[in-house]
Amino acid sequence: MRLSNLVTLSLLGVSSAAPAHHHEHIEKRDAVTTTVSTQVTVTMGTGAQTGLLQEDAVVGTTAAAAAVAAAADTTAAAAAQGTTTTLAGSSSASSGSSGSAPSSAVSAGGAKGITYSPYAADGTCKSASDVASDLAQLTDYGIIRLYGVDCSQVENVMKAKSSSQKLFLGIYYVDQIADGVSTIKAAVEANGSWDDIYTVSVGNELVNGGEATTSQVGAYIDSARSALTAAGYTGPVVSVDTFIAVINNPDLCNYSDYMAVNAHAYFDENTTAENAGPWVLEQIQRVWTACGGAKDVLITESGWPSQGNTYGVAVPSKANQQAAISSIEETCGSATILFTAFNDYWKADGAYGVEKYFGILSN
Ligand SMILES: *[C@@H]1O[C@H](CO)[C@@H](O)[C@H](O)[C@H]1NC(C)=O
Ligand SMILES: *[C@@H]1O[C@H](CO)[C@@H](O)[C@H](O)[C@H]1NC(C)=O
Ligand SMILES: *[C@@H]1O[C@H](CO)[C@@H](O)[C@H](O)[C@H]1NC(C)=O
Repeated sequence: MRLSNLVTLSLLGVSSAAPAHHHEHIEKRDAVTTTVSTQVTVTMGTGAQTGLLQEDAVVGTTAAAAAVAAAADTTAAAAAQGTTTTLAGSSSASSGSSGSAPSSAVSAGGAKGITYSPYAADGTCKSASDVASDLAQLTDYGIIRLYGVDCSQVENVMKAKSSSQKLFLGIYYVDQIADGVSTIKAAVEANGSWDDIYTVSVGNELVNGGEATTSQVGAYIDSARSALTAAGYTGPVVSVDTFIAVINNPDLCNYSDYMAVNAHAYFDENTTAENAGPWVLEQIQRVWTACGGAKDVLITESGWPSQGNTYGVAVPSKANQQAAISSIEETCGSATILFTAFNDYWKADGAYGVEKYFGILSN
């Protein structure tokens, strides 16, 4: 997550230490000092909603339940349809890809998926066999999110994943969309099928980082969607941004097939690790509301650092990381891709010295 363009502009310089290539993730600060109201309507619901909440272990409001369910599985989405809140596009039976996250691959591990980057500590590409060893530790996660197509990562992860796992792919460089699609197509045709692809994203936090306007993001998505359709892929296409970028730029809601947003409670500063899950759920609600209830919401990154500086009441430690992950899994795991599989020693320390230390499976 990069610095929001709203706050702490003086910290922007910190990011420049990261390697120029495959630095998907320079800063992880979320601007929560926003002018957007955080008010949330709590309407605990009917019997149908209660069942839904129990099924997904979601604690929250009607809108959140619908939003979470929509990004979760078919049964929950169907249950949401039966409640007083009808979420457009939340049913698997809804037409087209617009507005709906695909319904599949909910993990046994309590979260929908996990992010993975295939780089050694010195920033070089991990070998195919090292990637296979890593993936063998991620079998609890139904979705593996990648950020780029370099290092043969699509091909290597495609070969190493289990048959039931699906990939959330990323075309990181928006000036290389056609090449990215070609690389993905080649990997899919060699060692998988388009059914293995949960979603293809283009760009990561472009609006949050001030690197693109919302209409540019729309053009990137259209370009990727056209090339992917020509290549044989008909699933969702999105651009990932931070929750706060979407809330502050709701026209972003127009472009992605569903809202794919990163949200890290650590950078809220006022949220303890134990409360990470309810905080993430609140951000899901806010994004859902910002988009007028028209788009499903999937958290594409949420985690907690095991090392680094204390920031307000947010204290990095392995125990707190585990507490935060448990909280997220219990509250909104079915709508969350956890960040991240292993510590990213190839990254710069980043703000508050936490950037390397989000690895859930690292010591
Ligand atoms: C991947 O595809 C290549 C080329 O078709 C093939 O030789 C190889 O056996 C495949 N590997 C796996 C693990 O499917
Ligand atoms: C895009 O979003 C804005 C703000 O939410 C909305 O007013 C507008 O109608 C949308 N445009 C399209 C083409 O959907
Ligand atoms: C944390 O709470 C304090 C006191 O209410 C507030 O001034 C600060 O802006 C909050 N921080 C964030 C990131 O919201």
